[in-house]
Amino acid sequence: MVIISENMVTRMVDLRSDTVTKPTETMRAAMAAAEVDDDIAGHDPTALLFETEMAKIMGKEAGLFVPSGTMGNLISVLVHCEVRGSEIILGDDSHIHIYENGGISTIGGVHPRTVKNNEDGTMDLDKIEAAIRNPSYDLYPTTRLICLENSQANCGGRCLSPEYTDKVGEIAKKHGLKLHIDGARIFNAGVVGNALGVPVQRLVQAADSVSVCMSKGLGAPVGSVIVGSKSFIAKARVVRKTLGGGMRQVGILCAAAMVALKEGVPKLEIDHKNAKIFAAKKPKHTRHYVVVAPELNPDVPMPTRADMSLAFLHEMR
Ligand SMILES: Cc1ncc(COP(=O)(O)O)c(C=O)c1O
Repeated sequence: MVIISENMVTRMVDLRSDTVTKPTETMRAAMAAAEVDDDIAGHDPTALLFETEMAKIMGKEAGLFVPSGTMGNLISVLVHCEVRGSEIILGDDSHIHIYENGGISTIGGVHPRTVKNNEDGTMDLDKIEAAIRNPSYDLYPTTRLICLENSQANCGGRCLSPEYTDKVGEIAKKHGLKLHIDGARIFNAGVVGNALGVPVQRLVQAADSVSVCMSKGLGAPVGSVIVGSKSFIAKARVVRKTLGGGMRQVGILCAAAMVALKEGVPKLEIDHKNAKIFAAKKPKHTRHYVVVAPELNPDVPMPTRADMSLAFLHEMR
């Protein structure tokens, strides 16, 4: 927690994490008023509306609401790696690799092949390509997927540029692989992108699937959405049910997520500005922590609240 005193008014700013949020009044009202039906039967109108809106924003054909970012990533990996013994290439500092209980292996029988994350969140393109297994050797697992994370949380919330993501997408295509983006905080990357005239869907254009969290810095109490092609989402729906992530009158949660989208996303820009001011002032009574600016362009450094929180947590470990 950080105490800020301005003109004798003391405010508490909770920087433990950008997940430490409370639903706003508007959000609670939207939840109370949400029109709902059974979503496992595919009839919940609010869920359908939210999923369609998210797919549109991300430039993909379809979307699916899921309980968490962890489940969004797991479902995506399982859909892309239907055959046991599949291998995925991912950053050694990625959330999927470090913080998701190894679910891709324990639940999916998927083998992780890590490539070092550079400080800027990227993995070297030649290292990614070198990590792809030669399919003619039957000793090897079969590479099926490359995963990126944008923004890359453990690298201080660094944003991946669309050009970099495109290049990874080209490698994936060349080798018949899929590309998944853990976009838990893609809207934070979107703020940086907007400043450069890059819409958020451009950041994920090369991806076959993206998972986006509504409960990170946007204020929704629960939920993530995965987006991709219609056939990907049809399979994802089945896997979601298998994992116990199918929910009945889920429109109540989607109504909150919709408010997070409409009200929370525009506020991220303010968060970025505040974080920048905060980073520059380095308040006296807090631990010293390093804020790494996410950037598509090194001339536009904009640390986010998420980055600060993550950096702070890192210091506390
Ligand atoms: C980059 C990233 N991906 C995925 C997740 C998982 O999200 P959840 O906590 O909703 O499972 C997180 C959580 O903090 C995250 O930071």
